[in-house]
Amino acid sequence: MPYTKIIGTGAYLPPRVVSNDDLAAQLAQQGVETSDAWITERTGIRQRHLADRGVTSSQLATHAARAAINDAGIHAAEVDLIIVATSTPDHIFPSTACLVQSQLGISGGAAFDVQAVCSGFVYALTTADALIKAGVAKTALVIGAEVFSSILDWKDRGTCVLFGDGAGAVVLTQSSEPGLLAAKLNADGSQNHILCTAGNVSYGEVIGDPFLRMDGQAVFKFAVNALTKSAQEVAEQAGLTLEQIDWMVPHQANVRIINFIGRKLGMPSEKVVITLDKHANTSAASVPLALDAARKDGRIQAGQVVLMQGVGGGFTWGSILARM
Ligand code: ACO
Repeated sequence: MPYTKIIGTGAYLPPRVVSNDDLAAQLAQQGVETSDAWITERTGIRQRHLADRGVTSSQLATHAARAAINDAGIHAAEVDLIIVATSTPDHIFPSTACLVQSQLGISGGAAFDVQAVCSGFVYALTTADALIKAGVAKTALVIGAEVFSSILDWKDRGTCVLFGDGAGAVVLTQSSEPGLLAAKLNADGSQNHILCTAGNVSYGEVIGDPFLRMDGQAVFKFAVNALTKSAQEVAEQAGLTLEQIDWMVPHQANVRIINFIGRKLGMPSEKVVITLDKHANTSAASVPLALDAARKDGRIQAGQVVLMQGVGGGFTWGSILARM
């Protein structure tokens, strides 16, 4: 079978919902000033789900994976490839994917992590697609899972208000009809400094800065230009016009970035899936969370063409066109 297709999606969000007002009140106790008005106006974010301390990416990922497996109507034992996209792995090693495999009670297939920050899911799905098409695997679980709250500097109001925790998953399998139509991945490592968590653990101690740092305006400009071009390239690769795309499922970082790209591409806002008002930016989890939400509420229908886009630290970016 020459093609691959997404046959199931799933999501998991930790139960603790923190509104902008709740967050502003909590931060005020530490002398950090912010407001619902500032956050909503600049980003579109109204609330986020935050994991309790000690909850890990593999735990969130396993919940999302079970939901995707149920949605696909397969048995977990049929999964012979697990790729987890995360920048907040449980450990340095083993990989989060191996921990998910164990929590699902299966073994034997391949399992590994992909680290491309907020582009991680698009990178992981493209990798799974290639491995299935090469005959290395038949049925893949591709998961984006993050506990970004664990790498935020809660005294830096320019970043800590932007992110949330969660996981989204898809089941991708070999197919006799086209599903994943085209993919384009990119990176520009010279821009590594505009969005990074540059610390590490070595020689038994934290070396460098353990918190996420961002040049917001540089990220904004880079994301708009890179994703506009990437959407055009991937549509051309698939032999489709932008008008033939039914849904855009972009990385959920900032509604202003999404609106800019939508306008540049001539994509009507009714075709753009937005979840960042409820989830905030969940990094590698944001695209599969948004995809699942729009499938489950009936917006995205079988047979429709969906553009998924990721952009983030590295600097990395990428697009996938899929027929659902
Ligand atoms: N609450 C209140 N005031 C704030 C806050 C806050 N949470 N954060 C910053 N400010 C203040 C600043 O201190 C500054 O005050 P000053 O003028 O007195 O110095 C003022 O607001 C403006 O700060 P800027 O950083 O210039 O604000 P900007 O308009 O650039 O908005 C933002 C910041 C929202 C981060 C914007 O740059 C942006 O959207 N960038 C895109 C980056 C992004 O979305 N990143 C997400 C992660 S990356 C990714 O996923 C791809």
